[in-house]
Amino acid sequence: MTTPTTDAPAVREEVLEAVGLTKHFPVRAGLRTLLTRDRPAVHAVDDVHLTLRRGQVTALVGESGSGKSTVARLLAQLYPRTAGSVRLHGQLVTVRGGRPFRAYARKVQMIFQDPFASLNPVHTVRYHLTRALRIHGNAGRTGADLDAALAQLLERVALTPAERYLDKFPHELSGGQRQRVAIARALGADPEVLLADEPVSMLDVSIRLGVLNLLRDLKERLSLAILYITHDIASARYFADETLVMYAGRMVEGGDSETVTQQPAHPYTRLLIDSAPDPDRITGEAGPDERERGDGEPPSLIRPPAGCRFHPRCPAAMPRCATDLPPRLDVGDRPGHWAACWLYDPEAAPPATAVGADR
Ligand SMILES: Nc1ncnc2c1ncn2[C@@H]1O[C@H](COP(=O)(O)OP(=O)(O)OP(=O)(O)O)[C@@H](O)[C@H]1O
Ligand SMILES: [Mg+2]
Repeated sequence: MTTPTTDAPAVREEVLEAVGLTKHFPVRAGLRTLLTRDRPAVHAVDDVHLTLRRGQVTALVGESGSGKSTVARLLAQLYPRTAGSVRLHGQLVTVRGGRPFRAYARKVQMIFQDPFASLNPVHTVRYHLTRALRIHGNAGRTGADLDAALAQLLERVALTPAERYLDKFPHELSGGQRQRVAIARALGADPEVLLADEPVSMLDVSIRLGVLNLLRDLKERLSLAILYITHDIASARYFADETLVMYAGRMVEGGDSETVTQQPAHPYTRLLIDSAPDPDRITGEAGPDERERGDGEPPSLIRPPAGCRFHPRCPAAMPRCATDLPPRLDVGDRPGHWAACWLYDPEAAPPATAVGADR
């Protein structure tokens, strides 16, 4: 590691890095496509780059079907990749099942949306946590070691005293408590990375904040690198250090969460923010014209639009957007803020930032 210079912000250590991550799911070919070379596939994730750092939450935001869960599953090595690479502490990793997968899962754990589905209804909290500790070699040697490890796990997710919860079945717990048990189970591996796929979206609004605060506390206490997947860009501002926005299988914008949510650069990110529920705006009055707001349907991922995938819905689309794929371009307002959008092409005239900044 290099020593940071005096006033440069300290860059946190990289834990998990994905480069050019791509996943195409083949779809069943009809007779006609069998005769041609054109094999149809769902282009679920294309050329995704991301870095998860120690002690940092990275939010991955996008609407339904944009490929967020597929990214998480690729990072967890639950699917083979079509292309791209994943590095853990700089080491390339590709594992499929067996002991190598277990070793990888010890470092990289997933938390799912529905804790009821991810916990087995016929087993107690004690069973779930003991199993996780044993699989990952963290149960100790004696019964007393195991009891101490169980109590520590429940203490970490603020389910105390442990005895009150250990012999409960999932149906005897509230939704928030169940998700805390699922988080405790993930911590049983003593991981470095948590991939949290919409961890609070099934919970009552009133308890979401408690679970997010718990994850933030764990990030700090255990220096975890957390990927936080969500539809809710407002929660990314609150909870994540960095925010990445995905549209139709591609990353379209990234930067520190405050900048991405307060000064969104990509027209898609603006649409996401404008369509997020805002109590001040629920008046029942008709909004602006659909095309002006860029509303409409996400595209087919079997034949995604050429150029920028958002161009058919984009209120700022230019002719080149339909043909040329925009690279990551610096927005220029804050270091590290980028958008894959031709509005920020430094070589285009007039300067794009002037167009992008008028809101
Ligand atoms: N196993 C699969 N086989 C074929 N297509 C798939 C598979 N898994 C996902 N897809 C497709 O890939 C695209 C991305 O799906 P994904 O579940 O990653 O989206 P998402 O952003 O997590 O959506 P949501 O917010 O609804 O959870 C979708 O079009 C989906 O239908
Ligand atoms: Mg999903």
